[in-house]
Amino acid sequence: MEVRDALRARYSARAFLDTPVSEETIRAILADAARAPSGGNLQPWLVNVVTGKARRAVIDAVQAKIAADPFGDEHPFPVYPEKLWEPYRSRRFDLGEQMYAAIGIPRENKPARLAHLMRNLDFFGAPMGLIFSLDRKMNPNQWAHLGMFMLAVSLAAQDRGLATCMQEAWTRFSETLRVALKLPEDRIVYCGMALGFADTDAPINQWRSERADVDEFAKFEGFGKP
Ligand SMILES: Cc1cc2nc3c(=O)[nH]c(=O)nc-3n(C[C@H](O)[C@H](O)[C@H](O)COP(=O)(O)O)c2cc1C
Repeated sequence: MEVRDALRARYSARAFLDTPVSEETIRAILADAARAPSGGNLQPWLVNVVTGKARRAVIDAVQAKIAADPFGDEHPFPVYPEKLWEPYRSRRFDLGEQMYAAIGIPRENKPARLAHLMRNLDFFGAPMGLIFSLDRKMNPNQWAHLGMFMLAVSLAAQDRGLATCMQEAWTRFSETLRVALKLPEDRIVYCGMALGFADTDAPINQWRSERADVDEFAKFEGFGKP
């Protein structure tokens, strides 16, 4: 698959088949993704891949936390700035509206919206979950490099006919996950990722998010006649 095709084909899948993904496949995906660049070649990314009983254990640990405290762990960092401004506020709002419209859940139906959100914590049914973490002493630069790695994982998966969904939803359970995965205290869990074969019949997977035009986020200078 051409890189440009993988970029165009990737989307956040939110319903998966239970078809398993082999260890060999995920190892190959991670080996490809590890070619992602990082400043100073620190390769600051760390990832726990869970499937089968290990996946179940992660889900159960988070459900136990919710039963004890529905708000989850103390947030390690705010996911969004406190009050989003334009154009980001509208983009976030539009995404939610369009996504819930695609699966026929109106704004008033808060329980159904919540139930959909909670599906995050089942990896949307994907047989494999990835939990990305890094050393908490790392700076914003290294966080950016972890993000590059995550994108590379999703493209390497796409190339093999697999789908992914990055999941900040797990961040609310960062400490619970750290303990459940027996990670050292200096580790911070950033994000999860569902990985598997998309259920392409599911309406949620037939909808695609929008993007701003290139001219909205890029300025071009020095082109044309000298
Ligand atoms: C770091 C990161 C975390 C995300 N967390 C979630 C999440 O918790 N749940 C979810 O449904 N989508 C999540 N998304 C998916 C975004 O909503 C999605 O990437 C965006 O709307 C663009 O749509 P697309 O990925 O389908 O192109 C996340 C994306 C990124 C990059």
